[in-house]
Amino acid sequence: MDKIIIEGGNSLSGKVTISGAKNAVLPIMAASILGNGESIITRVPDLRDTRTMIRLLEIIGSVCRFSDGKLTIDSASVDNPEAPYELVKTMRASFYVMGPLLAKFGEVRVSLPGGCAWGPRPVDFHLRGFEKLGAEIILESGYIIAKANNLKGAEISFDFPSVGATGNILMAAVLAEGKTIIRNAAKEPEIVQLCEFLNLMGADISGIGSSNIIVEGVESLESAKIDIIPDRIEAGTFLIAGALLGEITLENVNKNHLLSVVLKLKDTGSEIVESGNSLTILPSDIINPVDIQTAVYPGFPTDLQAQWVAMMSIAKGSSVITDNVYNDRFSHIPELNRLGAKIKVDHNSAWIKGVVSLKGAQVMSTDIRASAALIIGGLVADGITEVQRVYHIDRGYEKIEEKFSAIGAKIYRESA
Ligand code: UD1
Repeated sequence: MDKIIIEGGNSLSGKVTISGAKNAVLPIMAASILGNGESIITRVPDLRDTRTMIRLLEIIGSVCRFSDGKLTIDSASVDNPEAPYELVKTMRASFYVMGPLLAKFGEVRVSLPGGCAWGPRPVDFHLRGFEKLGAEIILESGYIIAKANNLKGAEISFDFPSVGATGNILMAAVLAEGKTIIRNAAKEPEIVQLCEFLNLMGADISGIGSSNIIVEGVESLESAKIDIIPDRIEAGTFLIAGALLGEITLENVNKNHLLSVVLKLKDTGSEIVESGNSLTILPSDIINPVDIQTAVYPGFPTDLQAQWVAMMSIAKGSSVITDNVYNDRFSHIPELNRLGAKIKVDHNSAWIKGVVSLKGAQVMSTDIRASAALIIGGLVADGITEVQRVYHIDRGYEKIEEKFSAIGAKIYRESA
């Protein structure tokens, strides 16, 4: 298994180009199943997760071509509405194929995703939504089978504005007969772009970006072209690294997607300068402690909680970081403590006492964002940090060590 080795304590400076958003491209790739021809997606990040989704689409029967960030998916030959355990267990977002396959075939078999490092992560909202649209749901040998001769529009209200459930129900509702209203829908930019893509395919979706999304079902959809939005989580990760280690300019960002993050970074003492689609962070000598409560968009994203905890571990004072989206998402804390951080977890909050410095150690990554927090910790720490199980980071960050090396970090990969 590959490791990332970091010699910490070096300052950073320079430019980083932000990749297309993982969480936008995955549902859009699934949506391509709904078209009857060739969809073209550009600015696709080359990640383990995009490669996994390509493999899944190929198993389903799509023909995919991927090079230089351009992904072509021809769904005319889709004939196998099934997502096997081997893929779903490595990437939960595989579950996104359920909605489009159910809509297109009237029957789908998808492995039930297991738990993950940060808790059980249920799919009950997805399943209840499909039932409301008229599907019969059966659980058999670890697989969910959904069947519907004819999906019918319905009113669906989520208990929580789940990103995945909103996307999955949207991709089924676009071909259902009549009107579907999704109440308490997710408003994340990635869901907005999914709606835009579906409308380009010929769907009739309104209320995009609001809590109430309205879908008027259509008979069939064509293929479409789209350019993926910049990854706001990758951008936030580099901004946090800049706040700690030096002036970094991010290119290809959508600053409107980062408002809550930028405001909180300013509270820590950093200055942030905007220019067109770039953002420059100018760090301050001292990191002020700043509490965070994660929330759904436009609140502070749970996907930046781990990286924020890493930053607060060397703030001048104490802070409390509460995750209101995923209560158990704290597997990075014991690893950051191995670097010398002083953090305790109580329920869904991390209580952090800032220390003067961190010291390099061997640490193990447990999920995508926890890995990013450990890389940030390693870049700040004195001495050598060795991050193990980096396949997690390869799921969600494109060429992370190359991007950090290019701005002055001493970071390299050791292949096993
Ligand atoms: C997506 C993102 C992930 C991000 C998360 C929250 C993708 C591929 N992944 O994950 O990076 O951290 O949004 O912004 O886009 N819930 C249920 N039942 C369900 C579905 C969700 O109880 O059926 C709960 C979850 O346990 C969690 C909350 O709802 O507490 C939010 O989850 P959700 O928005 O669905 O996250 P994902 O779509 O899995």
